[in-house]
Amino acid sequence: MMSLRYPSRLVRQINKITRKNCRCFSAPTRITTMKDKLNHGPNLKEFITGSSEPILTERPNIPYLPDDIQDISKRKVFFDVYGCQMNLNDTDIVWSILEKEGFERTEIEEEADIFLVMTCAIREGAETKIWHRLDHLRGFKRRRALSKHKNRPVKIAILGCMAERLKEKLVEKEKAVDVVAGPDSYRDLPRLLALTDSGQTAVNVLLSLDETYADVVPVRLNQDSVSAFISIMRGCDNMCTYCIVPFTRGRERSRPITSIVDEVRYLSDQGVKEVTLLGQNVNSYRDVSTQSEARDTQMAKGFKTVYKNKKGGLRFADLLDKVSSVDPEMRIRFTAAHPKDFPDEVLQVISERANICKLLHLPAQSGCSAVLARMRRGYTRHAYLQLVHHVTHAIPGVGLSTDMICGFCGETEEEFQETLSLMQLVDYNVAFLFPYSMREKTTAYRRYKDDVPEQVKKERHSRMIELYRKKSQLLNEAEIGNTHLVLVESIVKKTGQILGRNELYIKVLFDQTEILAQDGGRRAVTPGDYVAVKIVGAKSSVLSGIPLYHTSIRDFYRETSWGDRHAVRM
Ligand code: SAH
Ligand code: SF4
Ligand code: F3S
Repeated sequence: MMSLRYPSRLVRQINKITRKNCRCFSAPTRITTMKDKLNHGPNLKEFITGSSEPILTERPNIPYLPDDIQDISKRKVFFDVYGCQMNLNDTDIVWSILEKEGFERTEIEEEADIFLVMTCAIREGAETKIWHRLDHLRGFKRRRALSKHKNRPVKIAILGCMAERLKEKLVEKEKAVDVVAGPDSYRDLPRLLALTDSGQTAVNVLLSLDETYADVVPVRLNQDSVSAFISIMRGCDNMCTYCIVPFTRGRERSRPITSIVDEVRYLSDQGVKEVTLLGQNVNSYRDVSTQSEARDTQMAKGFKTVYKNKKGGLRFADLLDKVSSVDPEMRIRFTAAHPKDFPDEVLQVISERANICKLLHLPAQSGCSAVLARMRRGYTRHAYLQLVHHVTHAIPGVGLSTDMICGFCGETEEEFQETLSLMQLVDYNVAFLFPYSMREKTTAYRRYKDDVPEQVKKERHSRMIELYRKKSQLLNEAEIGNTHLVLVESIVKKTGQILGRNELYIKVLFDQTEILAQDGGRRAVTPGDYVAVKIVGAKSSVLSGIPLYHTSIRDFYRETSWGDRHAVRM
């Protein structure tokens, strides 16, 4: 095929379209490279037939890139994952997209051609860790460029929340970065990566109102894991004043129920024993693609929100009902549930189904009403305590977990004391405790002063940790003598001990031994087994026990319901 030299007007036009639609930006010198490529590129016909947007094909083999560049799909990618469980799930989505395009994966740095860094922006500390990693990758990239493997240049792609927060600024600050892709642009990654070979830096940080990746079946990076995460919704509309998430993940949207149920079934067929449903606030889940009567949530007394409730559609209780019916031997967990809307229907499904874990993540954030108001959490200390009272009675023995922030703008010692007293009053099995970190763009950044000195934040943080450790030690000690249903996760390399988790997500360790199997024989314990374990020892974050027999969720709870096994704790 003869190649044409394009008139410079067309070259300019193509460059303009490419930059506008791809949101890629090229240094002026790189435009010359692009011009060269166009001059030696394909026939004009390829641009004017077949498609109205011939240049912007979704696939990486873009016609005007030479063959060696199209080979990008053979390259090996190395994943670095930071942040929350949602990032883990997003990494599986990204890998599914790239694997389909022929990319390969490696866990060995030296083999990697492309580093994909899945980032978090929740606190400054989270970003600092990532900057350190980028320092390392920059050095790696430079060394490769000087080595005998210089024909395999290293590319660095920054994905996720920090990419979304910093956008083009990331490339300005860290010149070694080749691709910046926000949480809603992962479908675009093959194309963005292909573009880097034409010497461009490619940025796509467009947030979407409807992207849920519902049709992308995530390919799990850790195929051996007995548990998996499923994002049931993306984004957040709550706008807590301290939080960057609504700015990095965009508007809240729910994934259709059928695609979630299909994925649970697929995972169950693969032998996965536990799924965790993920959303920033799962209780506002709405499958608007389904028709149902508009049973709108009535806010309980003491709760309010800036959030606009969506009308109609199946809700979280319906989703839990359907998901937990797929496989009665699959444990179902979910996180997070904003305290502002906890409908009784959800509590009811949880208490009725043996395979839905009786652990509620109810992030309080603070125990002081004035601080909660500044945080725009939509509830008071009193309303939160009433909710705890309500859920512990609706599901006797329910475990609770929380997130707490200390040192938020204007927090006095007395206000902090109220957080400690809330942690004293409520028995949290698990708590994630953070010193406040001011984030640009948030309401707190615009409205308040980050006036609690770092040293004071640190010291309050230590006091929260100390109290939490003391209390969880006592809670765990109270379990000594009880028998727990443990899902086995792995065998500890160093000691050969078995590691699993109980219903409340507390780690349980025990020695390997052959125990009674359900068929009447005896066999050793392997990951994915359910084992009845008698608890004999307790630390603040781990229990130890003696394995009694192999079991199943249904068999374990056949004789004793969850409620009978635990006294109400408030
Ligand atoms: N949607 C979830 C929270 C996701 S972020 C929920 O509402 O529970 C996880 C936790 O990080 C938050 O619950 C909060 O405790 C903490 N966090 C968020 N922004 C923070 C900030 N600026 N400084 C310190 N901790 C923060
Ligand atoms: Fe952040 Fe609040 Fe949304 Fe949670 S609910 S992600 S804390 S804005
Ligand atoms: Fe998760 Fe961090 Fe983003 S906590 S939602 S990865 S800012």
